[in-house]
Amino acid sequence: MNELKEKFKELFSQKATIELRSPGRVNLIGEHTDYNDGFVFPAAINLEIKGVAKPRNDSKINVFSMDFNELVSFELSEELKKERNWSDYIKGVINELKNVGEVKRGADIVFKSNLPVGSGLSSSAAFEVINALLFSKINDINLSPVDIALLCQKAENNFVGVNCGIMDQFAVALGKNDSAIFLDTKTLDYEIVPLNMNEYKIIISNTNKPRELSSSAYNERRKQCEKAVEILKKNGYKINSLRDVKSKDLSKIKKLLPEINFKRVKHVVEENERVLKSVNLLKDGKIKDFGKLLNQSHTSLKNFYEVSCKELDILVEEALKIEGTIGSRMTGAGFGGCTVSIVKEQSINNFIEIVGKKYYERTGLKPDFYVSEAVNGAEIFQIKEEE
Ligand code: GLA
Repeated sequence: MNELKEKFKELFSQKATIELRSPGRVNLIGEHTDYNDGFVFPAAINLEIKGVAKPRNDSKINVFSMDFNELVSFELSEELKKERNWSDYIKGVINELKNVGEVKRGADIVFKSNLPVGSGLSSSAAFEVINALLFSKINDINLSPVDIALLCQKAENNFVGVNCGIMDQFAVALGKNDSAIFLDTKTLDYEIVPLNMNEYKIIISNTNKPRELSSSAYNERRKQCEKAVEILKKNGYKINSLRDVKSKDLSKIKKLLPEINFKRVKHVVEENERVLKSVNLLKDGKIKDFGKLLNQSHTSLKNFYEVSCKELDILVEEALKIEGTIGSRMTGAGFGGCTVSIVKEQSINNFIEIVGKKYYERTGLKPDFYVSEAVNGAEIFQIKEEE
């Protein structure tokens, strides 16, 4: 925080009055289910964006990113246009806030993050949520954490142009220390589930592979699911989304759908069932069985949903060779990004060393590893005078 405060003073010749933090998320299981009204099981993680800010008395926004070493300035009254850079996430949020309240007051802000960008750990959601918290607060727009999550999802859908579900923004806004969130994305009912993992830890491994074309492939997957729902409805199925399809019906459904749509449906339907099982297994302390479901999830994402890639598969494969790894899968949208593995605490050093070495040998890329803790969702604080 000191570094941020100093930068703020240097740039704006005054002291910041507000401190902000916003975590990334890792999804334990329930991938590509959220935009199908399904179940997800993410946790907010201890890789986060931090910020310091001071509200202004006018409608200007000056925001400096220490990571991009770039200052962006604009007026709240301007018609905000997509720039295809990090400032889109703020602009998208401002646009949505304007739909729910009066946004007149700007701010000076400095951000810095140790959450890797474009790695499937929801740096965009974290950035949206931190800005929604700040600008709703200083403009006296009263929003609950769930309202904030929904607003940020809209920003991503309408401004950034990714038709994402609600999982990322929800996890970032509502995360809890040492817990994961079991969320029903249809009703938004959720349960905070303590991560009682005994001697096991969550390790995130970053492929460090840039995620090319990921948003178009993402939107395409979503359309394929919607198409399947449409076909099934025409064939008399009383469903609103893939959430309403049960795995016992899959063999009947297979005959009605083009192969590609069937593969997508199979993944979503079975993944939803895996989430329900996972939550119960974790509650019962059956961590090894939970790990097996992670492995099944990866296989399904690879073979049926087809959103994995060579790098993710290699990381998973090498992770599972380590004694002490009880489950591993890609996490997030896929096409690059990260895996999540459950590893015995005493095997962690070995895991990082060997998986790192093997992955490099096989891909020429150096991975990063984060031993992750589940943390609270995004927060905003007033800085005390004496600081
Ligand atoms: C991205 C989206 C989420 C979710 C995941 C896949 O992270 O933002 O809404 O769909 O992909 O599970």
